[in-house]
Amino acid sequence: EPAELRSILAFTVNLARTAGTLILEGSQAIHASSDVNEKKNSVDLVTQYDVAVENLVMGEIKKVYPTFKFIGEESFSAGTRPTLTDEATFCVDPIDGTTNFVHGFPFCCISLGLIYQKRPVLGVVYNPFIEYLYTGIEGQGSYLTRGTGQPQKLPLASPKPLPSISKAQIAVEWGSDRGAPMINEKVGSFLKLAGDSSVPGGRMAQSLRSMGSAALNFSMVAQGGLDMYWEIGCWPWDVCAGMVIAQEAGGVVTGSHDVLNAASEDVDPFKITSEILTGRKYLVIRG
Ligand code: IPD
Repeated sequence: EPAELRSILAFTVNLARTAGTLILEGSQAIHASSDVNEKKNSVDLVTQYDVAVENLVMGEIKKVYPTFKFIGEESFSAGTRPTLTDEATFCVDPIDGTTNFVHGFPFCCISLGLIYQKRPVLGVVYNPFIEYLYTGIEGQGSYLTRGTGQPQKLPLASPKPLPSISKAQIAVEWGSDRGAPMINEKVGSFLKLAGDSSVPGGRMAQSLRSMGSAALNFSMVAQGGLDMYWEIGCWPWDVCAGMVIAQEAGGVVTGSHDVLNAASEDVDPFKITSEILTGRKYLVIRG
């Protein structure tokens, strides 16, 4: 129900702001400490703050929405891997951009998505460092609230038509899977995107950016600062909230990994299936 989603959004926004305070406190401490743990390798990081923020969020959701299911990055890593059902399910990345968080690079956020009947229907992405709050509800638009300002509808300006990739500002990410098959596929796409016509398939995009947070990349496409974001290997908590925010701003999200031919792919962009729980590829393009 639209009204119910609006009330869940108000709760989720409060939660994101509370979590944001904890993230800011943590960032002071973590930058100066060596209390960083590696998950699958030395580029897949987790800190006590990722865990603390997830626990805080999980606890508050349980109090207010005791029947909702919960999928969170850190509980998933610790072995709690629920099957995706038709029931309302929060899908949470407590700190998206953990590497930035550890390095004191203020491009990270909390990402809170709600999935219902296997579709992402609500998203909240909050970067506490610059106090940018992105929200979206399926069918009700997406918004950016800066600081204590009023929500502004996204995209902030009507996008100019994008005649070709050569005029595009594109985010790509290196991710944490650095094995040869993945890195070769990524670098192959980067080469085609960045290279000029002397590179086979080169399209010379105006710029490639790699800023380290999937959720903020989705949100930045919604805002209009990026024309496109391409990545392989995201997890549902990286993309769930961002998908709603991007879609509601007119963006297109697909599971295609062929960045140059994505527009011709016939993919239901907003279908979240349990397949996503195994990690997938994402592309989001401004509408
Ligand atoms: C990661 C970031 C990164 C992206 C990875 C994500 P985390 O999330 O969004 O930019 O390349 O695919 O897993 O680990 O910082 O929550």
